[in-house]
Amino acid sequence: MATPPASIPAGIALLAVAKTSPLLAPQLDAAFSVHNRLHETDPAALAAVAPQIRAIAASGESKVSAALIAQLPALEIISVMGVGYDGIDVTASKARGVVVTHTPDVLNDDVADLAIGLMLSAARQLPAADRHVRSGQWATSGPMPLARKVSGARLGIVGFGRIGQAIAKRAAAFDMAIAYTARSPRAGQPYRYLPSAQALAAESDYLIVITPGGAGTRHLINAEVLAALGAKGILVNVARGSVVDEQALIAALEAGTLGGAALDVFEAEPQVPERLRALPQVVLAPHIGSATGQTRQAMADLAFANLAAHFSGQPLPTPVPECR
Ligand code: 8YV
Repeated sequence: MATPPASIPAGIALLAVAKTSPLLAPQLDAAFSVHNRLHETDPAALAAVAPQIRAIAASGESKVSAALIAQLPALEIISVMGVGYDGIDVTASKARGVVVTHTPDVLNDDVADLAIGLMLSAARQLPAADRHVRSGQWATSGPMPLARKVSGARLGIVGFGRIGQAIAKRAAAFDMAIAYTARSPRAGQPYRYLPSAQALAAESDYLIVITPGGAGTRHLINAEVLAALGAKGILVNVARGSVVDEQALIAALEAGTLGGAALDVFEAEPQVPERLRALPQVVLAPHIGSATGQTRQAMADLAFANLAAHFSGQPLPTPVPECR
């Protein structure tokens, strides 16, 4: 077992609220007294250790409710291994003086790479092409139906933070006409700003969604936005499932009023509706935006660095904006 960093006092109790990444777990075990998911598996055992818990380790998909925070009177820090923290009740954390940290930037490249890969996969029908060859249909039925061109097409990006900008940088190499929407125009950006997702969709062939999740963006991509994207349009979601109205998406795809979709996230993941799985013009991925060994290691190290900094009295590397 690794030796705990000397600067973290021994024996601090930490509650892991998600299944901890194997890239983070050894670091946590070496430095903390770790209680794994007791809130789900053994509420009585959690009640017994609750007064001692001073830290929570969470993933980007974790839920940390006001009720859980209230149950942990000694809680000081929630460290999220993920850039998204929409499952954490930051208002309740702040009210209690509990700091929340996350892992921005280290995953920008991977998520942007996947967004472009999904766009290409949906446009060029790569999964269907793979099935066409494997099944022997190429030899028996001939070539596939023609696909859609990506280079030179119009790309709309919903959410223009660090990952949105990394997507734009890559799309520029495909000579795409790039526009974006966000709460306000970003200074110094060469790309066109449109004030709403619907206005952007109306002028896009491809719409990539990369805005934070949470109440403020719930169902931002609704039936009207999908109708504006249109029968030849392709939607790509690498943000959070909550941002897209999944029922409206399925209805538009089934009716042919939307051309296609490529999705890395879902409203009730890992559950994916059967109707969505049945659609051949949809490319599906199991929330793998940041899932490379290199990036997950960097995320694990940063999640741990935030905990180590907090308990050794150092400045936090990456608190969430609300806690800066
Ligand atoms: C991961 C994510 O799914 O960073 C995020 O917000 O959604 C992801 O990168 C996950 O949190 C890894 O622990």
